[in-house]
Amino acid sequence: MSTNVRTPLMAANWKMHLSVAEAVSFIAKLHEIVGTPQDREVLIAPPFTHLWPLREAMTAAGFSLSAQNCHWERQGAFTGEVSLTMIQETGCRYVIVGHSERRHIFGESDAWIGLKTAAALVHGVVPIVCIGEKIEEREAGLTEEVLRRQLTASVEGVSLQDPNRLVIAYEPVWAIGTGKTATPQQAQEAHAFVRQWLAKRFDKAVANGVRILYGGSVKPDNVDDLMAQPDIDGALVGGASLQVTSFARIVQFTRSVKNG
Ligand code: PGA
Repeated sequence: MSTNVRTPLMAANWKMHLSVAEAVSFIAKLHEIVGTPQDREVLIAPPFTHLWPLREAMTAAGFSLSAQNCHWERQGAFTGEVSLTMIQETGCRYVIVGHSERRHIFGESDAWIGLKTAAALVHGVVPIVCIGEKIEEREAGLTEEVLRRQLTASVEGVSLQDPNRLVIAYEPVWAIGTGKTATPQQAQEAHAFVRQWLAKRFDKAVANGVRILYGGSVKPDNVDDLMAQPDIDGALVGGASLQVTSFARIVQFTRSVKNG
């Protein structure tokens, strides 16, 4: 299986952090350090209120903008929600759906995540669909079952010809914000499982082209080993994306052992 077709995607998930002013200077500094990389894509997912103010600087830097969440309806009486039309208007190419904090703190169901994924595809916004098991599920040997369930609910029903229209993020819940990273082998196993699932659901070409990111305590000192795995195509980074030098180092990973 060739792995060269997938452009690595290094994504910062800022969650509910940074002011607009801090974000503006972060982007300028990041651009100063990493330039506009040609062989990898740099993505930032700031809070909703930052999307419009960051649009120009992000475009100028050649970075991709992402929302952290969305509603699946075009408009309506949904207080506090933001539609994909609105997100698209801010220049976002991507939207994160089903992040584990949305699932576990805000009670989002598999079914909702499926609706969001389908709606994002309809609007031409690339969904970054997050999946991942809890520690008790891993310990009970249920990792693949959980991933299969989450993939089925979110991706089974969509039609997909162009693999660049979908990104999957494998984020084991026990590794998010805990400092406990999955080992590169554990992550690779899960990623390979996801790719096989995609091959069965779609076809080999789609499965080969969809980028699968790893998320969960990615740091400057573990990113190279993670990115060396053949099925890890990028990272979704929370904590370590809030310091510009740390995220810049993650963007500048080197992939010494990667084969393919
Ligand atoms: P973390 O978060 O890097 O702080 O573990 C990752 C994420 O939640 O996407």
